[in-house]
Amino acid sequence: MTARHEHWEEVYTTKASTDVSWYQPNASRSLALIRSAAPDHTVPIIDVGGGASTLVDGLLASAYVDLTVLDIAETALDQAKVRLGEVHAGNVAWIAADLLAWTPPRRWAVWHDRAVFHFLVEASQQEVYLATLMAATAPWAIAIFATFAPDGPDKCSGLPVQRYSSQSLADRLWPSFRLISSASEHHTTPWGADQSFAWTVLQRR
Ligand SMILES: C[S@@+](CC[C@H](N)C(=O)[O-])C[C@H]1O[C@@H](n2cnc3c(N)ncnc32)[C@H](O)[C@@H]1O
Repeated sequence: MTARHEHWEEVYTTKASTDVSWYQPNASRSLALIRSAAPDHTVPIIDVGGGASTLVDGLLASAYVDLTVLDIAETALDQAKVRLGEVHAGNVAWIAADLLAWTPPRRWAVWHDRAVFHFLVEASQQEVYLATLMAATAPWAIAIFATFAPDGPDKCSGLPVQRYSSQSLADRLWPSFRLISSASEHHTTPWGADQSFAWTVLQRR
């Protein structure tokens, strides 16, 4: 087990999924962005670093049928499966893997990443992530990112993060992806702290 894997397994075994700073009862912004980018409910969607996020619940309720959730922490995926129940969980592909050591077996039309890419503070890790993103998507695919904004925290889950504006993230992904839309959000943690996020929607060229 790598230190990264150990860190995330420990987070999810020592805290309730509703007690982590990134918890949101409804992933409403993600859902709105996905519904707008992908009105066709048959398109393949992957939530990378999805953890125990409730996004998959919302996507199932919205009748999306080709859903994948990937996370390094199997414990987080198990929590989501239990919450969903056997029937709904059975309609989702669950992948327990480190994004930085994973070979995508197929391509997705929508790539969703809330608060995962920002943990990659080394250029070499970012390069691996971006190569994986390219291997997992086809031209015209949509990539939706939420990262801590320049005025957001400099750590998440005790780990340093790289903060981005939507423009700086778009610059990082150019020329493979072009900026489609951006938005700011203030997320409130379960204990009432404010976190400034940048939401960025990009399209593969
Ligand atoms: C801040 S949490 C966000 C979880 C989820 N996206 C959400 O919005 O609720 C970061 C997530 O990324 C996962 N993660 C971190 N590094 C990863 C990696 N290298 N590969 C796959 N998952 C990773 C963690 O296990 C954790 O679930």
